[in-house]
Amino acid sequence: MNKVSVKDLDVKGKRVLLRVDLNVSINKDGEIIEENKIRSSLPTIQYLVEQGALVIIASHLGRPKGQVVEELRMDPVAKKLAEMLGMPVYKTDNVVGEEPLKALDMLKNGDILMLENIRFHPGETINDPQLAKEFARLADFYVNDAFGTCHRAHASTVGVAELLPSAAGLNMEKEISVMSKVMENPERPLVAILGGTKVADKIGLITHFIDIVDVLLIGGGMANTFLKAKGYQMGKSFVEEDKVEAAKEILAMVEGKKAKFVLPVDFIAASEASENSDQKVVAADSIPSDWMALDIGLETVDLFQEYLDTAKTVIWNGPLGMFEIEDFAQGTVETAHFIADLEAVKVIGGGDVVAAVERAGVADRMTHISTGGGAALEFWEGKELPALSVLPEKVKV
Ligand code: 3PG
Repeated sequence: MNKVSVKDLDVKGKRVLLRVDLNVSINKDGEIIEENKIRSSLPTIQYLVEQGALVIIASHLGRPKGQVVEELRMDPVAKKLAEMLGMPVYKTDNVVGEEPLKALDMLKNGDILMLENIRFHPGETINDPQLAKEFARLADFYVNDAFGTCHRAHASTVGVAELLPSAAGLNMEKEISVMSKVMENPERPLVAILGGTKVADKIGLITHFIDIVDVLLIGGGMANTFLKAKGYQMGKSFVEEDKVEAAKEILAMVEGKKAKFVLPVDFIAASEASENSDQKVVAADSIPSDWMALDIGLETVDLFQEYLDTAKTVIWNGPLGMFEIEDFAQGTVETAHFIADLEAVKVIGGGDVVAAVERAGVADRMTHISTGGGAALEFWEGKELPALSVLPEKVKV
């Protein structure tokens, strides 16, 4: 994949519509609690500003379903971006139409204008051609830097790319290069850790990974479903009952493979999923009927570390326990610290695990923190990402 790059465009004095993924977590006080996506968007924005382009930033925030949702306005994101860039970021109250056009007329080259949450417009997620035209009307060029939304065929990711001269941004290029390398030509052993709650989200990935990786470590709620499929009693633990059969098939499939498929051997279990509930360490096959597994246990942490210790490449997607509750964050946090200390290529993907790695304070010791959650999974699964396919390839000379 060798896409036309933002650096191939002559953007001086031009209006550039830049699609970024600034879909960040915001707490109830309106504070942004995970900055990775904003940080990753800075190089392309700075590059465009330095080149003297007028930069029009488009992003979604959450899933407002085509209507205005006050808590999902882009204002806190624009403010944070301005702080991180050290320059003003002007913002519109509308997605498209006369207001952004008028605002653009008042700005000069090197300025930045952020559009309102593009998913406030009902045309965005259905890739409405009319909305794509409205986006195209704003700019001379289109640059897509939003790796995290590449798996979505929306007006701002696919529709507009078909109407304007287009290119990939610097974050997009970095993501594609790092994410492809770890799959196509990794230094081995390659150890992948998959966590998170749902087996359903990861079936395709496990099936694909098992022939590529050397070790697959499974944690998080999805491990429960696999253990149930093995016949263990999981008490009140979260189990996807309708995926137990699929989990059985995966267990049978991995049986004959060279790669090791490793499930937790113990858990931190609790009487309920809350801070200060009754808690104890239990073996994976001995969870009491009225208890639930909420984090991997100490033996599992050690077991995972034994495999990780030899790794030359680590891919991690999904937390290993209910890390948003302090009492059940230990498995994820300890693993994050252990990986950070490794002399290996360390690639982290998926919103929750990125937040966990940031909370553990080790984000800067990872090789790459992907801005993609679902997009990273689909990329690793080898699926076609529509917003990537639509970007032009460089012409070979
Ligand atoms: C993400 O956070 O994974 C991306 O921003 C995509 O968001 P979506 O799943 O709401 O399309």
